[in-house]
Amino acid sequence: MKILVINGPNLNFLGKRNVSIYGQKTLEEINSELRERAEEMGVEVEFFQSNHEGEIIDRLQKVDEFDGVIINPGALAHYSYSLRDAIEPLKIPVIEVHLSNIFSREDFRSHSVTAPVCQGVLSGFGWKVYLFALEIMVKLAGSR
Ligand code: DQA
Repeated sequence: MKILVINGPNLNFLGKRNVSIYGQKTLEEINSELRERAEEMGVEVEFFQSNHEGEIIDRLQKVDEFDGVIINPGALAHYSYSLRDAIEPLKIPVIEVHLSNIFSREDFRSHSVTAPVCQGVLSGFGWKVYLFALEIMVKLAGSR
């Protein structure tokens, strides 16, 4: 089983940016926690981060080798119809994650245009949200 983990704009700044909201861990640290857990579960993970909407869409158009996608779209979740359109036709499960609870923050964050085309959404829980999504993904993708 092979899972692609995508992070959108500004998530390369984790650990430096709004640490009271997003936590101290860098994206590299989060990814190595994920890789470790994935190894224990016998699954492969690949990571992709971009600050550019089009690059994320290009990546999503080439997911044939993967069994599932975990995506933190960052702020793109709130307005990117092109990202939504790239997720919609995918035949593998997609889980949207957010480190922060987007429903407890500014109004504009409480709406996700990408969530309706994902299998489900996890929001809050800090960096561990990625681990929870991985656990769910392995169960989901394994039972297809
Ligand atoms: C985020 C929430 C978004 O509103 C924000 O723009 C981000 C991070 C999160 O992980 O909590 O960049 O996706």
